[in-house]
Amino acid sequence: MGMTRIVFFRAMFYEANGRHFEAFMKQEDLYRDTCAEVHAATGKSSITVLDYGCGAEKGVSRTILENVLEQRDLLLLYDTQEVQPSRRPNTRVISEALIWSANPVQSDIVNLSYVLCLLPPEEARMLLRDLSYFQHGATLSIVDYTLKHQSRDRVLQLLTANEEQKWRQQMGDAAFLETHMRFSPDGIADLVESAGLRIQKTIPLDREQFRTGIVAVRD
Ligand SMILES: C[S@@+](CC[C@H](N)C(=O)[O-])C[C@H]1O[C@@H](n2cnc3c(N)ncnc32)[C@H](O)[C@@H]1O
Repeated sequence: MGMTRIVFFRAMFYEANGRHFEAFMKQEDLYRDTCAEVHAATGKSSITVLDYGCGAEKGVSRTILENVLEQRDLLLLYDTQEVQPSRRPNTRVISEALIWSANPVQSDIVNLSYVLCLLPPEEARMLLRDLSYFQHGATLSIVDYTLKHQSRDRVLQLLTANEEQKWRQQMGDAAFLETHMRFSPDGIADLVESAGLRIQKTIPLDREQFRTGIVAVRD
């Protein structure tokens, strides 16, 4: 079977199972557009992007950012887990202190991809508030599951990517469902606004809006 056909069948498989492929492509478009807009708005020749909750190894957001960013842009990686260093030049794994200190590193974009759903709502709100305060002037780019109105059985059938299966095993079904079904599209927008952020853009990442992307700035 030719390579193109394999890629096509792979895409069809993912389309049928949770629309992972479609969402990945839309997330890439979202990052590409946001980086271009921030480059233009700041007039900077190189920007700094913080991938907050980037994952231990190869998270979706990090994989996309490593490809989308221009060579001279700086990519900062942070997670509560130990983060594997990147092969991309101009990429640094940073410690918590650099984000929250009196003299924090300043990012132009702070990226949160599939992080907020893991936190209780009040913690998620505080995190957004704190990030927009300490990363003053940064554009926040947020991506998360918006599966609240699906049935529990359907969600378990949809979220079959390797990473999702790993989280399901780690958490158990009850906690996996509670976190991954936390938001509706309106619910995640409400959370972002309640943290004092102004939404510039909301986009469904797939045609059933299993996932939503939001771009927001501090009001
Ligand atoms: C589902 S993974 C998503 C990873 C990656 N961003 C992606 O797009 O695939 C969520 C990540 O958020 C991290 N995380 C959870 N709570 C966090 C917190 N309060 N601060 C920083 N990272 C956190 C977890 O350790 C995990 O690596």
